[in-house]
Amino acid sequence: MADRSDVRVGAPTMYSAVKGMPMKPSLLRALFAVVLCSAGPVAQGQDHRPAQGATEHKPDHMRHSFADVERYAASFDNPARDAWQMPDRVIAALGLRPGQRVADIGAGTGYFSIRLARSAAAPKVFAVDVEEAMVQHIQQRALDAGLRNLIPIRTTADRANLFEPVDVALVVNTYHHISNRVGYFSDLKAFLRPGGRLAIIDFRKDSPEGPPVEFRFSAEQISNELAQAGYTLQTSHDFLPRQLFLIYVVK
Ligand SMILES: C[S@@+](CC[C@H](N)C(=O)[O-])C[C@H]1O[C@@H](n2cnc3c(N)ncnc32)[C@H](O)[C@@H]1O
Repeated sequence: MADRSDVRVGAPTMYSAVKGMPMKPSLLRALFAVVLCSAGPVAQGQDHRPAQGATEHKPDHMRHSFADVERYAASFDNPARDAWQMPDRVIAALGLRPGQRVADIGAGTGYFSIRLARSAAAPKVFAVDVEEAMVQHIQQRALDAGLRNLIPIRTTADRANLFEPVDVALVVNTYHHISNRVGYFSDLKAFLRPGGRLAIIDFRKDSPEGPPVEFRFSAEQISNELAQAGYTLQTSHDFLPRQLFLIYVVK
């Protein structure tokens, strides 16, 4: 992975998708309430347990608080994850080119966002998350690394609310957290550039870790939902041992 030290200058701007304009972090903090929550088994390498006091599973979707950044950073950014998550190979498979834009939807602690921003193509990366604490965390990581091409965005659960269309929308281990996925990804088409792609990475049913089985989907289930949202499967990568890696384009 190339070290993009040439793009590390100045402070990245954090955006509020709700207002659609740059905001001061302090103002942002005051405006947003903490969202989300869910539950899951103890993960081997990635923590899916509910945060203390978090709402347990709802029948229709996962509600999971990711407010405890320190705890999730220890899990999501555990170097042991790299062995099965293969981030460099995933990013290489996306085939990004200079000048392109990527949205990392459900960016979490920035595991993929940081790597994408530092990757050879140095794309503009929108790190999108509903959890304010995660967005603040990524903001700090981007500042520390001087990654001006990494733009954290606090969004809402029902829409990605990007303000610039992207070439790739990457959704890692987050598909199963989104409710009304047909509506969500149908709306997302408006934020994809012509030829834009939607990349879904999520736990296989037989993965040794991941969310509860009812929140693990087969490739067919995901493709059926996304077909209803107006997408068709372009590529299915099989190299990830624990997750499906599916790439869709607009029909
Ligand atoms: C399991 S974590 C995955 C984080 C990251 N993609 C990774 O692989 O390390 C799921 C993340 O998605 C966020 N999230 C959940 N529902 C979301 C939604 N509807 N839109 C955007 N982010 C969401 C959560 O706040 C959390 O940070």
